[in-house]
Amino acid sequence: MKISIGSDHAGFEQKELLKAYLEELGHEVVDRGCYSEERVDYPDHAVPVAEDVAQGDSERGVLVCGTGIGMALAADKVAGIRAANIINPQFAQLCREHNDCNVITLSGRFVEFEENKRILDAFLTTEFGGGRHAGRVCKIMELD
Ligand code: RB5
Repeated sequence: MKISIGSDHAGFEQKELLKAYLEELGHEVVDRGCYSEERVDYPDHAVPVAEDVAQGDSERGVLVCGTGIGMALAADKVAGIRAANIINPQFAQLCREHNDCNVITLSGRFVEFEENKRILDAFLTTEFGGGRHAGRVCKIMELD
């Protein structure tokens, strides 16, 4: 799968580790920065990742900041994006199954790397459930 990834300074360390993990799994990863721990503004990296996904250049997006909250707020402003801030594997599964999320935002400061790996596993392997969930997701997308 082609995946765009990005972070701010607070998510940089885990972004690097998660990028390596995704590559180990055989995914093609597009890195939209940041590229060091120098302080940056998270929307500057959320938007390029969200645009890659919205334009169909990448299938999924992964964003990491201190909490994941700012990244979700910014990514969800891009038309076509369904981003959620996820801090456990069960929510990762449900954000795919019920909400068809195409971008996941993670916490680099409050969630351990091993847990974020499990979260990504669930995010990348769970299909959208469709059915009763499809109309609800359509109603969200009509708000774009
Ligand atoms: C940066 O200090 C922090 O605000 C940012 O990484 C993120 O947690 C925002 O939601």
